[in-house]
Formats: sequence, structure tokens, C-alpha cells
Amino acid sequence: MYRSLSRAVASIAFLLPALWLSGCGGKDETVITVGVAGPMTGDQSKMGQDFRNGVDLAVEEWNSRGGVLGKKIRVDVNDDQHDPKQAVALASKMVNKGVAGVIGHFNSSCSIPASDIYAKAGIPMITPASTNPKLTEKGHPTVFRVCGRDDQQGKVAADFVANVLKSKRVAVLHDKTEYGQGLADEFRKSLGTRAGVAAYEAVIQGDKDFKAVLTKVKRADPDLLYFGGVYPEAGLLVRQARELGIAAPLFSGDGTIDTKFIEIAGPAAEGTYLTFSPDPEKVPTAKAFLDAYRRKFGPHGPYSIYAYDAANILLSAIRDAGTIDGRAVSKKIHDASFRGALGEIAFDLKGDVKTAPYVVWITRGGKFEEIGSKPAH
Ligand code: ALA
Repeated sequence: MYRSLSRAVASIAFLLPALWLSGCGGKDETVITVGVAGPMTGDQSKMGQDFRNGVDLAVEEWNSRGGVLGKKIRVDVNDDQHDPKQAVALASKMVNKGVAGVIGHFNSSCSIPASDIYAKAGIPMITPASTNPKLTEKGHPTVFRVCGRDDQQGKVAADFVANVLKSKRVAVLHDKTEYGQGLADEFRKSLGTRAGVAAYEAVIQGDKDFKAVLTKVKRADPDLLYFGGVYPEAGLLVRQARELGIAAPLFSGDGTIDTKFIEIAGPAAEGTYLTFSPDPEKVPTAKAFLDAYRRKFGPHGPYSIYAYDAANILLSAIRDAGTIDGRAVSKKIHDASFRGALGEIAFDLKGDVKTAPYVVWITRGGKFEEIGSKPAH
């Protein structure tokens, strides 16, 4: 009894320094830590978990090949709950933990303020999904995104609305966030005088009842609803629009293109147009990733592959730089061209990808289908 007790005490004493190093803000020099940040819980958790899965898969593959710089790689998961204040607090925490880089965040409203913290510490940040132009317009040399920008996405949507749908009276709605409002405004700007804006309204993230706003929208008699925002609100908006007898199709962006949108909206999701990048199922370089992801986690989400590529870019740059010094690693990211699951990825001076091909998708038969720039048939 005494012997087993003393053995237990001895093993706890042995474990303590390791626990202290990894859990109390100290830097564990025996591993390289990569942070992943996004909404891991709450109504946008599907996107956060997709990030996490993508990063986990990349790290598992690197570790199976021996890690990087002779060290194993560890993933530090951070739940910002799509709250900018939480994102900033987590960013400081990750800096203190000594992460070698961060894959995140999801929401532009989180990525933009958090990027200042990472940049000050010289830690590379690669967002798989934050599309607001402001993120890379700040000129931080350590900040990157593997997705496109809302000025590009908004233009593709506006061209489709003007040239293909030939809408005449558009109701523009947004969720007041950096992303949602930013995208709605880019869409509106790009649409210019090609269609009239019959209504311009805002909703609040987290609200569940949009009937008051939609009643105003109905009075304006639009032939298209455009929404800048994320799937929890987009799903409810289109469902309630149909309940109120608004027949105009919905058009939204990358924040909406997730199966959760279809779950929330139900049959009202049918015929919704969305802008996003081309279907990875049709991209030959994505096959190995898609197979491995499916085996491990099931169906991939819109940004799973982006998180996977972002993690691979960071780890390749660490390997090529021969150090985890963030500024040296960032220089490698800027200088190199990466062969990712998405294809060739290279960054411009701002940290944006050199090519971001947005296309139009439609929701049909309870699924998302890429239609490019042609009418749905
Ligand atoms: N593209 C979305 C954003 O920037 C996810 O917030």
C-alpha cells in the first residue's frame, strides 16, 4: 500500500515539470506548437471544427514523417466563439505560449484585431477563411490568407446578379460584422447602377426572429435578397422570408455555404445562390486530402481543405527556414510557391493569394452545386 502510494507520488512528481511546461504558459522546447483558432463551440462551431480537423490531419501527416526540425508538432486549439474580444485574448495567450504560428481565425471580425497581436510578436498567422480586405491591407508582413477577398467575391456575385439573373430590385442585408457588412457593401458597390437597391437592412448575429426586418423588405418588393453573413442567420432569414411570402431568391457568400445552412433553412434553402471557390471534388490535387479527410472525419466542410493547406504552408516554411523564428518563416511563405491540395498557392506582397477564383454555386436537391458563371438549368 505504502509502496504503491509512494510510487504514485513519485510519478506525479515526475510529471509535474512537463505539465507545468505545457499547461502553464511555459514554452516546451521539445515540441513545435501550432495554434488553430476559430469558433470551436456555439452556432458557428461547424466551421471551427472543420479548421481543427484540417490542421489535425496535416499535423498528423507531418508527425508520421518525423515532425519538423526534428521535433514533434502539437496543435493548440483555441475557441474564439466568433467574439472579437475573445479572439484578441486568445491571441495574447498563444503568443505567451510560444506558438510557432497560427491557423485562424474564421471570422474577419476576429482575424483583423487578432492579427495585430500576432504581428507585434512576429508570429505568422494564416487564415483559411477571413475574406475582409482590411486584414491584409494593414501591411503586416507576417499575416496571410489562403482564401480570396470580399472585393473579389462581391464582384463575382454582382456580375452574376446583373448579367445572368438580370435582377432589377435587390434587397441587401447584412449582419453588421466586418465580414457581413463588408461583403454586402462590396456587392452593392460592384453592382453600381446595374440594379436598383430596393432595401438595405441589418440584422444582429445571434437573433432568431427576423420577421420585422423581412416585413420591411417585403414592402420594398425585391426580386433578389442578398445577405452578407454566416449560415446560422442566413438559414433563418431565408426560411422566414418564405414564411412571409417573399419569393425572391437568396444570394449569399462563403459564410453561408455549409450543410448547416441547408439544415436550418430546410426546403427554403433550395435555389439559394452562393459565391465560393471551385468544388475541390473536381480538383485533381485535392483527391488525396479528400480521401484521408473522409476516412478520418467524414464529409469535408467548405474550409477544411483551406485549413489543411494553411497548416502545410506554415510547416513547410518552418522546415525551409530551418527555424521557428516567425519573421524568417514569414519571409519563406512570401517567397515560395506551395503545392497544396488546392493546387499551386503563392502570396503577393500583402499576404493575399495571387489567384482567388470565385464561382457561383446553387443549392439544389438539398446539396450545393457549382454552376460557375452560367445560369442554373
Ligand atoms: N469569410 C468569412 C469572414 O471573413 C468567414 O468572416
